[in-house]
Amino acid sequence: MKVAVFSTKPYDSDFLTAANRASGNRHELRFLEPRLNSDTVPLAGDAEAVCAFVNDILDRSVLEALKQRAVRLIVLRSAGFNHVDLVAARDLDLAIARVPAYSPEAVAEHTVALMLSLNRHIHRAHARVREGNFALDGLLGFNLAGRSIGIIGTGKIGICVASIMRGFGCRILGADPYPTPEFTALGGSYVELQDLLAACDVVTLHCPLTPQTYHLVDAAAIAAMKPGVMLLNTGRGALVETRALIDGLKSGKIGHVGLDVYEEEGDLFFENLSGRIIQDDVFARLLTFPNVLITGHQAFFTQEALTAIAETTIANVSQFELSGCAAYPVSTEMLA
Ligand code: NAI
Repeated sequence: MKVAVFSTKPYDSDFLTAANRASGNRHELRFLEPRLNSDTVPLAGDAEAVCAFVNDILDRSVLEALKQRAVRLIVLRSAGFNHVDLVAARDLDLAIARVPAYSPEAVAEHTVALMLSLNRHIHRAHARVREGNFALDGLLGFNLAGRSIGIIGTGKIGICVASIMRGFGCRILGADPYPTPEFTALGGSYVELQDLLAACDVVTLHCPLTPQTYHLVDAAAIAAMKPGVMLLNTGRGALVETRALIDGLKSGKIGHVGLDVYEEEGDLFFENLSGRIIQDDVFARLLTFPNVLITGHQAFFTQEALTAIAETTIANVSQFELSGCAAYPVSTEMLA
């Protein structure tokens, strides 16, 4: 099939080309640097499939415009599908496929990297030592052993985080409308969300972004948390209401914040903007806090994950070509 790959970075073309080669160069991949939106739809040309990433726009108008061309399949290079209008896709009879599990360990390990960096102020220590400043004032940390870690969303990534944190000797609490025995087998205990927020020293978000989880962490949720709490978000930016987060940081209620995602990241992440002035004042304010550590949506970015993303994406296209149905379809039921 002809596949138009949007938001292509060099690593995307490297891994997708290798996966396509392994399939006998079955598909014709056209790599496009621009993000997919209503202006860039024509770049799809005569492709029958479009391959998209997390900050591509897949709303009704874009899907309609793609459908008017030759497109029949959208393959997402992501697990999350919150950026796709699934109802519109169903109405237009456009198949949507994703990569449901590529490497939960990649995201879980990055989450723990943020946790440990914040906990022991590694980001500040690194900058100090490079300046010849070996003073320890301000770098006082706390042990994770014996602390309570709250995992919101105990799916594939949440379970990996639980497994790692068990090794640190933490008490592990979880909140999830669909509890799994795997979590309890790891020593985790399920509690109501409010109880988790009240009890935990570290709260980490691993649920999908849905209408129900939009701004799950708002001013009320922050008020319910322990003073000095560490909040980690490697899920999706809009799980957290950023202005409430800033208020929580300013008041000292929140002790540490680690983010790999940000509500308005579409205008910032995945690009080198180092020579430009950041126009997003909310994001700029976040960068001023010494106890905030931000990475630019890189939790997935490991060799293992990129290999799996590329292989599953090619498998989705091949399966669709063979049977008219992708290997890992996204169904509208997932909206429920
Ligand atoms: P998963 O589908 O295996 O697990 C999600 C869990 O969240 C499920 O157990 C589900 O029942 C639970 N959940 C749903 N609604 C909830 C709610 N209101 N409260 C608490 N839990 C709720 O998904 P997986 O693979 O663990 O990924 C989780 C999320 O991580 C993805 O949806 C995606 O947004 C994000 N992600 C971020 C990446 C990054 O690079 N930063 C990479 C991959 C995923």
